[in-house]
Amino acid sequence: MSAGAPPSTAQIEPGGFRFEAEAGRTLLQSAESAGIELPSSCRNGTCRSCICRLLDGEVRYRIEWPGLSREEKAEGWILPCVAEPVGDVRLDVPLAFSHF
Ligand code: FES
Repeated sequence: MSAGAPPSTAQIEPGGFRFEAEAGRTLLQSAESAGIELPSSCRNGTCRSCICRLLDGEVRYRIEWPGLSREEKAEGWILPCVAEPVGDVRLDVPLAFSHF
């Protein structure tokens, strides 16, 4: 994590929920801090419960082999439990909901 880096904005579609996504935190962690629930289970990139489409932006992974095939990655599928944003991102997570 680069200290002092400004947080990115993450937007969840189709709900339109927005939250600050800090570099160095996973998208799942940042969403939870903002009161937004995304589907998840293992939280370590294995079970694929959290799989969703990245509509815009870029992510990097904290683990070397997230449970995604090369084809899935190419099609824009990501695992937000182990993905950190690189700049602003927009995700398609129909089952997401906000506590607020
Ligand atoms: S919660 Fe299991 S892969 Fe993301």
